Amino acid sequence: MTDIGRITDELLAAHRLSKTDFITLIDNRDSLIPQKAPLSGGTAAVRSVLKARAAAVSRSVFGNRIYTRGIIEFTNYCKNNCLYCGIRAGNTSAERYRLSEEDILACCRTGYDLGFRTFVLQGGEDPYYTDELMAGIIRSIKKAFPDCALTLSVGEKEYDTYRLWREAGADRYLLRHETADDSHYRRLHPEGMSCEHRKQCLRTLKSLGYQTGAGFMVGSPFQTTENIADDLLFLAQLDPQMIGIGPFIHHDKTPFAREKDGSVELTLFLLSVLRIMFPKVLLPATTALGTLSPDGREQGVLCGANVIMPNLSPLQTRRKYMLYNNKICTGEEAAECRSCLSKRMKSIGYELTVARGDY
Ligand code: SAM
Ligand code: FES
Repeated sequence: MTDIGRITDELLAAHRLSKTDFITLIDNRDSLIPQKAPLSGGTAAVRSVLKARAAAVSRSVFGNRIYTRGIIEFTNYCKNNCLYCGIRAGNTSAERYRLSEEDILACCRTGYDLGFRTFVLQGGEDPYYTDELMAGIIRSIKKAFPDCALTLSVGEKEYDTYRLWREAGADRYLLRHETADDSHYRRLHPEGMSCEHRKQCLRTLKSLGYQTGAGFMVGSPFQTTENIADDLLFLAQLDPQMIGIGPFIHHDKTPFAREKDGSVELTLFLLSVLRIMFPKVLLPATTALGTLSPDGREQGVLCGANVIMPNLSPLQTRRKYMLYNNKICTGEEAAECRSCLSKRMKSIGYELTVARGDY
């Protein structure tokens, strides 16, 4: 059997590979391998074989149900200066905004009435929202919507802060590790930010009982296949409950304005690999995927994703949370976003579900 045939079989059987095998797999995903029964006789590309398996795994675990999480982008102020990010502190042309507690609760109300049972509060690292202020907002949301899960995505904090918010009622936390390789990390972030601190945050979040999400951008500047293999190995070690990956997309007002966007095809391939590695993980088909390809989110689901995150932010602020060029869903009301996604999922045989969708 060819090496790529053996590696594909090993991933399907053991759900894990060595670093060199991950690299071979990714670099040879277009290679043809013999098909197994009942389709024996012909050949198929490695990526088609993995896509079919990922979709089957996802179906067997989640059926045709897609979990929805209403995302509320509550501040685009950020003290950080990540080189890829459109709302980095250094982007002086970004028009900044913050939502008050009342605004946030109103977004949750709209979402609740539309059937959302998970809210994701995402924002830049904005010191205006002190630990106590955030804890108050968390308590208010949990009091008003006790049957809903609350996810935070507000960056790197210390143990005591994460603990305070957990005790206030936060259930989940999204913090993409961005890249597991220290030298790659340093090329994407300014001095003072560290890969090790971000990884430590993820371990802390897990230890506090948060359902924790890590992840990375596909095709971020300077990323190599070896970096991606390291990302997969880091995820295997961390064993998170959620994994967010999406293509890097350039933003005109960042140092990476002239960098190439990530590949939709590679992102879809990696979604399949992740679904096979982590059969039960919560895996979104991201807005970035839908931005680079009109049916990117549908394709993401067909490659193993099982979560969609419609936007619940107020219409006036949507365009200001511009992480990358041409971000989609910035002109529609929450209800329109939800019904658009519902139609998109129906068109491929899936349904949005209102369940909380815990891990
Ligand atoms: N401040 C929080 C944090 O650091 O995790 C949450 C907000 S941050 C904007 C959310 C995610 O957006 C990042 O983890 C990053 O992967 C993604 N992102 C930022 N800029 C992007 C870009 N240009 N293309 C694709 N994704 C991007
Ligand atoms: Fe802070 Fe992007 S640099 S959210």
